[in-house]
Amino acid sequence: MTAFKARTLTQIDIAGRTLRNRLAVAPMTRVSATAAGDATAAMADYYERFAKGGFGLVISEGLYTDQAYSQGYLNQPGMANDQQAHAWHSVIQGINAHQGMVFAQLMHAGALSQGNRFRHETAAPSAVRPTGEQMRFYYGEGRYAEPKAMSDEDIADAIGGFASAAQRAMQVAGFDGIEIHGANGYLLDQFLTDYSNQRADRWGGSSERRVQLTLEVIKAVRASVGDVPLGVRISQGKVNDFGHKWAQGEQDAEVIFGSLHAAGVDFIHVTEHQAWQPAFADNGASLVKLARRYAPGSLLIANGGLEDPQHADTALDEGADIIALGKAALANPDYPQRLDSKQPMAAFDPAILGPIANIKDVELAR
Ligand SMILES: Cc1cc2nc3c(=O)[nH]c(=O)nc-3n(C[C@H](O)[C@H](O)[C@H](O)COP(=O)(O)O)c2cc1C
Repeated sequence: MTAFKARTLTQIDIAGRTLRNRLAVAPMTRVSATAAGDATAAMADYYERFAKGGFGLVISEGLYTDQAYSQGYLNQPGMANDQQAHAWHSVIQGINAHQGMVFAQLMHAGALSQGNRFRHETAAPSAVRPTGEQMRFYYGEGRYAEPKAMSDEDIADAIGGFASAAQRAMQVAGFDGIEIHGANGYLLDQFLTDYSNQRADRWGGSSERRVQLTLEVIKAVRASVGDVPLGVRISQGKVNDFGHKWAQGEQDAEVIFGSLHAAGVDFIHVTEHQAWQPAFADNGASLVKLARRYAPGSLLIANGGLEDPQHADTALDEGADIIALGKAALANPDYPQRLDSKQPMAAFDPAILGPIANIKDVELAR
């Protein structure tokens, strides 16, 4: 038995619940909901395979939180009204039926919104057009729109949206926990990032101020859902700025992970392109290691190229508790079972995600 297998195929407790193992499916947007943002039967089939294949935890794709500026993509599922929440019942039942747990990832796209049926304009910390181009596999084309700078009222609405969506996800839909999407260039990360946040008020300036919106969202969500598994996803890189690094290096990591931990999250989900690599150019610690250092009591989920057991072992050595897999889970929805029975893993085929990233029949046939 490899160390990786022995270390991941064991139970772990998270905020009073027990996961049957330490392998999670990373959140992956598949734009397969109805135009109204309701989960579909194909989504139920798609998600059930991961639990049936042995994953202890599934983190949902990013669900938009409100009927204002949060929706990022056409056919993205939402958690912005009760109809959308009810539509998740059968998805969640399918996962729970195979002893899998499922957390809702709550996401506000901010300036990266490229398809929102509720608003024609986008909203962000500052009126800065995002770098990069819209994603074609999510029905986008060309440059991102220049967003409007959010007013105090817009910010309060966005916080309230996260809190209501979290309550709906837990109480109406029946999810087992909540992950707040603070990573990958979306709204909360836009506030965290120096160049997209040029505000001079309480939400901008120092790293301490730029992380404040994420902290307020955590506070509001905790107040609305109580004592359920609650965490946050954090990254340096963004879907539209892959190689971004925090300017203050480890000092930023201390501020960010320290304040998230102090805000009372149960878990922090760290994602990097290659999660075992040094976080900064100084060849020092990985982001996983820094998260462990500055958020000592939080459970740590690590993600990014960790399907290779050697790399995953490094992440576990550096303090990760759970390994989340993205593309490897798409290629092997039964990854934990294959690992357990020493079956070979299938390689990821990018064709699954093209031309549009929707769920394909060939996936459901597996
Ligand atoms: C098709 C696709 C959709 C994704 N959608 C999301 C998402 O909704 N939310 C999120 O936080 N990350 C999303 N990601 C990023 C993954 O969760 C993960 O971080 C990335 O695939 C790297 O992990 P891997 O090397 O195991 O694939 C997506 C990735 C892919 C490939």
